[in-house]
Amino acid sequence: MPVTGDRMPRLSVVGLGKLGSPMAAVFAAKGFDVVGLDVNRDYVDALNAGRAPVEEPRLQELLDTSRARLRTTTSYEEAVEASDISFVIVPTPSGEDHFFINDFVIDAVRRIGSVLRKTDKDFLIVVTSTVMPGSTGGVIRQALEDSSGRVVGSDVGLCYSPEFIALGSVVRDLLNPDMVLIGECSPEYGDRLEAVYRASTDSRPAVHRMGFVNAEICKIAVNTFVTTKISYANMLADVCEHLEGADVDVLTAALGADTRIGSKYLKGGVAYGGPCFPRDNKAFAAMARKLGVPCGIADATDQINDYQVERLLGAVAAVAAPGARVAVLGLSYKPDTGVFEKSQGLALARALRTDGYKVVVADPLAASGAASAFGADVQVASDFEAATASADVAVITTPWPAIRNIPASAFSRPGGPIPVIDPWGHLKDTPLAGSTRLILLGRRGSLAPAVPEPVLAQTQPRR
Ligand SMILES: NC(=O)c1ccc[n+]([C@@H]2O[C@H](COP(=O)([O-])OP(=O)(O)OC[C@H]3O[C@@H](n4cnc5c(N)ncnc54)[C@H](O)[C@@H]3O)[C@@H](O)[C@H]2O)c1
Repeated sequence: MPVTGDRMPRLSVVGLGKLGSPMAAVFAAKGFDVVGLDVNRDYVDALNAGRAPVEEPRLQELLDTSRARLRTTTSYEEAVEASDISFVIVPTPSGEDHFFINDFVIDAVRRIGSVLRKTDKDFLIVVTSTVMPGSTGGVIRQALEDSSGRVVGSDVGLCYSPEFIALGSVVRDLLNPDMVLIGECSPEYGDRLEAVYRASTDSRPAVHRMGFVNAEICKIAVNTFVTTKISYANMLADVCEHLEGADVDVLTAALGADTRIGSKYLKGGVAYGGPCFPRDNKAFAAMARKLGVPCGIADATDQINDYQVERLLGAVAAVAAPGARVAVLGLSYKPDTGVFEKSQGLALARALRTDGYKVVVADPLAASGAASAFGADVQVASDFEAATASADVAVITTPWPAIRNIPASAFSRPGGPIPVIDPWGHLKDTPLAGSTRLILLGRRGSLAPAVPEPVLAQTQPRR
């Protein structure tokens, strides 16, 4: 690999949150000397003590094995001094106009630039945070040049290189990306960054190198395309609920087998949530609108996504009247993470309360954090079994594997088992399917009144 001098480049990771901590750990596990930096003292202290500051599968395991190569600090001087390449992975919150705000990135880049001003060391800054198109070559480049007194491309390096990870599988995704995206200020600095990825990934990913703007558009375009697939699958699920004999899983399995479409994220379920998908889709639409480009696909994707909570509410209303107690099984936006931001479990619990239902929620990682998001009128159960055992109806909002281990007795009542609304087909083909009143959404046997085939046939134009 191209190296700085004849050694592996030393790396710094600025921002040690949900993405930065796993990045630092993966780099260290792959043999790089890494210094992590955060303004949050707790995160810095946790990592220096060898403890994962965020919940993420495999993170602690990597820290245990690579501790000797990873240290952390709150000092930019120390981080820049001890590294040759710095990855900036700080928050870029969404503004009211849905554009991402660059303030934290600019602050971090300025601080790095101020240290560089006092040295003549060759240095590369990699912006990993998600930014709006035009940011890296615009305000970020300007901040770096102003603070360092150097010119980007000739005497300091700048790349934009976002990661494509999902919370709950960040370590696996960092090690096994399908694709690496590099927006580069020059081929030399791009080569340097590519070499780091070649040494830190297991999957021999395709590396796509381009200018800043292409890379910035690509990052949000990927997420916008994936959200479109999710909403498309949920739209199909809704259609299937209205047609006798239809089953969304049968359909999506066949559709996904067509390589033009692909099977990933093509599954009827609940709305997408979390810290990235909803806001990236809105940012893409906001950007297109600002450019005067019609963005109906992104808008429709949002509308269908927002409608999913109504679908779930309708499913509950079909089996239980207001006043009934509903168990919401899952508050995280996906399994294996405690993040509940914009999760369907949270949205459904709130909507059920508004409609007059009693609500009990459970989640192995998100329950304690989410509890503060509810009033005292939502009960937080200790686990899935306890929530189910106290309810008149249960809804599977997050397909946690542990839901399959709920004992059948928790569903059983003197008058027969309680209804379980399952948008994912999570309990299908499990022993529990026989001991619950399973309502699989997106297929025959679910709740919408079926439209008999002749009615649809009559809508066909006459020959
Ligand atoms: N979390 C995801 O799933 C995900 C996926 C892809 C991209 N991203 C992007 O990655 C970026 C970071 O996301 P995250 O989820 O890791 O955020 P996070 O909030 O979990 O972590 C960010 C960290 O940066 C620190 N920080 C803030 N300002 C700083 C500064 N000036 N200097 C040093 N540290 C600073 C914070 O204290 C925090 O620990 C965002 O742009 C986000 O859009 C996140």
